[in-house]
Amino acid sequence: MTRIPCIAGNWKMYKTVDEAVETAAKLKEALHNVSGRDIGIAPPFVSLVPVAEVIKGSNISLIAQNVFWEDEGAYTGEISPTMLKNAGCTCAIIGHSERRQYFGETNETVNKKINKCLDAGLMAIVCIGESLEERESGNTFSVLETQVSEGFSALSPDQMEKIVIAYEPVWAIGTGKTATASQAQEAHAFIRSKIEGHYGKAIADEIRILYGGSVKPGNVDELMAEKDVDGALVGGASLDAGSFARIVQFSS
Ligand code: PGA
Repeated sequence: MTRIPCIAGNWKMYKTVDEAVETAAKLKEALHNVSGRDIGIAPPFVSLVPVAEVIKGSNISLIAQNVFWEDEGAYTGEISPTMLKNAGCTCAIIGHSERRQYFGETNETVNKKINKCLDAGLMAIVCIGESLEERESGNTFSVLETQVSEGFSALSPDQMEKIVIAYEPVWAIGTGKTATASQAQEAHAFIRSKIEGHYGKAIADEIRILYGGSVKPGNVDELMAEKDVDGALVGGASLDAGSFARIVQFSS
């Protein structure tokens, strides 16, 4: 079993088109020699097409931060999986905690988005994770279990092969509080065991589980040393090309 490490930068609502293009160009240059790692960046929607142009032919793939669950229609403000694919994306982030917290995403909408995304030929990075209150009340595992069983409800093994899971404890996102490597490992092992329960050992062994929440150059090596941590979804520290390039080149 080899799980290729995956490092994805989520730029959230940061960077104008010009800034996004400039950062993408720096990353292309800084990372051109890196192999054996899946690298992706998720700029805001308006920058997808120009960034796609910059990273064309490089080892960096283009990720969307969100996606809708219909192909087209009267859904003002939404973007479909087909449009994202056509714009150059290979993957979309689904169910980020900020989407769940501020935009009403639920495990059910996450499930609809996953289905449509995979139908359109995009991979999905599906985010799950507990809040501080849930952790402190001892509910971390039950929250993760529900997010897995409802979010991935009725997905086939073939579909699961196109999914990457991101474990992002909400209390560690943008707060500077990283889960310790052992807290991350514990949650990742639990998530993998749930995937094994639903889909069997082969899929559980293959699925990649990224950690997200204040990942930085200073803590990535330790996190990546854990057996079930297969990569990172990086927010704040992905905005600077030098810092993201260092994270991508974590020492293994
Ligand atoms: P952060 O964000 O690295 O800024 O904590 C991670 C994320 O939200 O994906």
